[in-house]
Amino acid sequence: ISEIKGGEDGGLSRVGSELTVVGWVRTVRVQSSITFVEVNDGSCLSNMQCVIDADADGIDQIESGLVSTGASIWVQGTIVASQGSKQKIELKVNKIVLIGKSDPSFPIQKKRVSKEFLRTKAHLRPRTNTFGAVARVRNALAYATHKFFQENGFVWVSSPIITASDCEGAGEQFCVTTLLPNSGEVGDSRVDAIPKTENGLIDWSQDFFGKPAFLTVSGQLNAETYATALSDVYTFGPTFRAENSNTARHLAEFWMIEPELAFADLNDDMACATAYLQYVVRHILDNCKEDMEFFNTWIEKGIIDRLTNVADKDFVQLSYTDAIELLLRSNKKFEYPVKWGCDLQSEHERYITENAFGGCPVIIRDYPKEIKAFYMRENDDGKTVAAMDMLVPRVGELIGGSQREERLEYLEARLDDLKLNRESYWWYLDLRRYGSVPHAGFGLGFERLVQFATGIENIRDAIPFPRTPGSSEF
Ligand code: 4AD
Ligand code: MG
Repeated sequence: ISEIKGGEDGGLSRVGSELTVVGWVRTVRVQSSITFVEVNDGSCLSNMQCVIDADADGIDQIESGLVSTGASIWVQGTIVASQGSKQKIELKVNKIVLIGKSDPSFPIQKKRVSKEFLRTKAHLRPRTNTFGAVARVRNALAYATHKFFQENGFVWVSSPIITASDCEGAGEQFCVTTLLPNSGEVGDSRVDAIPKTENGLIDWSQDFFGKPAFLTVSGQLNAETYATALSDVYTFGPTFRAENSNTARHLAEFWMIEPELAFADLNDDMACATAYLQYVVRHILDNCKEDMEFFNTWIEKGIIDRLTNVADKDFVQLSYTDAIELLLRSNKKFEYPVKWGCDLQSEHERYITENAFGGCPVIIRDYPKEIKAFYMRENDDGKTVAAMDMLVPRVGELIGGSQREERLEYLEARLDDLKLNRESYWWYLDLRRYGSVPHAGFGLGFERLVQFATGIENIRDAIPFPRTPGSSEF
């Protein structure tokens, strides 16, 4: 359908041609001698309006009522100019075949249904306009991500999902455990198969073939090993955080894009993050016009103008110290009081992006070292590190990045300060022993990018199967 209707002329140049469509029925309207069936095949938002009159082959299936919302059908006919105002063309059907009927209990009938309700129907929600559009734009963002990095000479590296290291040092990891052999079928009996000690506690010594293992929170440390061999690299894969936060911007399983640039400093890192975001935003504005118009009308009014500004204008940059000044000068009553050294809360981030700089992305740099991870490069002031976060309106932190500490003695001292075990980081320290180079990178939460680019309010609607506290079905 997108191939036929996607052109500038809405398909008019194809009038007179034969066409076969397969897809799912959205609506059926029976009028005295004609039936209108709207079919969607997922290739685009538009349906194909099928006009079926009494002499069409297969009309009995319409008469029997089996062609109903949700059913899958095959139709063949001729493209004709439409009399209606909603579309330029329609399909005058010669033959219709019902492929799979839809039980009357199909939960997504024509009336609008809430996103909360649809989350309980994650297997059927891609059949709706909103979730179809989100899926296509998410796909376009993934494609543009690879395109951007490939065109700029980055090598894609697959980072492991199972790992022993905790990149962020925040202890928000899920643990991997091995089930006892031959102990039970699939289902809740798997719980019984988790190895236990004599007193019934989980036996962690049985973890990953006898060693502790966790789901990765970030592929960064692995990316650094390849950046210090291949120069610029990036990862793009699932990451996991065991944070029990029930917010509209946190998931337990999310996809992260993590470029790592060799022979680069924080300024290069910020320039890369800006160029990347502008590139992918421009890509969807140019290539997902119909879906973006849909979001502009139904999800977030003005999103197209907002994104056009992002693609065209410079982003704001300021230091953490200046950001704190700005918050203090605002005289706004925040729930979390502001003082130098505090981590920025979402209310602060909102104020900065939405009020202080009118909706423009803002990059804040040089954070206090106490609130940032061990691997960030210490600045000459001894108090701050070469870190940067990119904040965007509504979503807050979209990107977190830094220049990495490439000096062996500084890194060892930092590990000691934080009581982290040098031995577990032996391979990471080796990168500083053998041909260390200044390098920098960032991580972008892919679902937050989807939120930002579509206007979808809740991160649970930006990923096909959200994993949050209490939701692991499907
Ligand atoms: O700021 P974070 O924790 O940074 C890192 O993991 C670095 N190792 C990245 C790097 O330098 N290579 O996470 C990076 C981004 C955040 O800015 C946010 O967009 C996203 O990951 N993120 C989440 N997205 C959804 N749900 C969560 N629970 C997220 N936690 C982080
Ligand atoms: Mg962060």
